[in-house]
Amino acid sequence: MSDKIDRNLSLELIRATEAAALSTALVMGRGEISSITRGAAQAMQTALRAVEIEGRVVIGEGEEDTASYLYVGQAVGTGKGPRMDVAARAIDGARLLALGLPHAISIIAIAGENSLYKLPPGLRYMNKIVVGPEARGAISLDQSAEWNLRNIARAKHIDVREVTAVVLDRPRNQQLVREIRQAGARLHLISDGDIHPAMMAALPETGVDVLMGIGGAQEAVVTACLLKCLDGEMVCRLYPHNVGARQAALAEGFNFNEVLTVNDLVKSDNVFVSITGVTGGERLESVRYSEGGVHTHSIIMRSKSGTMRDVRARHRLDKLMRYSEIDFAGAAGSGVGAAR
Ligand code: FBP
Repeated sequence: MSDKIDRNLSLELIRATEAAALSTALVMGRGEISSITRGAAQAMQTALRAVEIEGRVVIGEGEEDTASYLYVGQAVGTGKGPRMDVAARAIDGARLLALGLPHAISIIAIAGENSLYKLPPGLRYMNKIVVGPEARGAISLDQSAEWNLRNIARAKHIDVREVTAVVLDRPRNQQLVREIRQAGARLHLISDGDIHPAMMAALPETGVDVLMGIGGAQEAVVTACLLKCLDGEMVCRLYPHNVGARQAALAEGFNFNEVLTVNDLVKSDNVFVSITGVTGGERLESVRYSEGGVHTHSIIMRSKSGTMRDVRARHRLDKLMRYSEIDFAGAAGSGVGAAR
């Protein structure tokens, strides 16, 4: 393996998630979802210009004709260095940020070239179960929710009533919600943003034992990158949201019965992830403003070494904005960042 591939690229990626978080955190609570997504993607793409990789976006903000930044197939990085697949959610949970609710994050993962799963075009959702290392082997999509929850409880040496499951609050997950309640487990319904709770499920003692239900398909690939680094486990299946999505995927040879695992979604063992809190949550602090600067909290990780680092940073936007092309103050003209 060359020296270049052996660099810990997560140490460089952190600037991309910090940039996305900083560029959008000021509009928290203003209800502007589309400008959040676009602003964060633009900031992340600009920051990636400094990362020495020949990157290609596999999971991004949309197709070339619909997304201005980080579209699928786009080249990112300096164009020199190792060839890497890129999976980015510049903001996961744009609505959470727009409403000032917790758990909005910025995340990027990169993995060896041609290793990330290419989703059927237009396919939005996957049915997924995510657990941490202690519950590896304890989950199955072919079994009931009760079977899974009891197995997870057994693996974690707790009672099923002490197992906490997180589920996206959507009509398509209603049956699952009923089953979890019948099984007697604890349930945390979330309105958006299922990557952060998936990370919590994979980490010990966060209060989350399992993420279950039908959520974003792109988010499943990003989550698989996280799980590679954390030794967690996920089983998932493509879920068509309408007949058109189903037929399009079938025509391309995809199979809706196939159970996909972390290794199916990320073939490479060389995976790097950076995740920065925007509105924060139990495991990630939000972007915070003080007289001395703007503060971010990120977690960076690498699959090969298993190293995970918590990185707290103070940013001086007044200095950064003198030379950086990134609009760190978000929606330039707000004037708030310029004051620092
Ligand atoms: P955004 O793209 O608006 O940030 O939403 C992300 C997300 O909440 C994911 O975390 C989740 O997996 C997915 O959307 C759920 O999709 P939907 O809102 O269509 O049910």
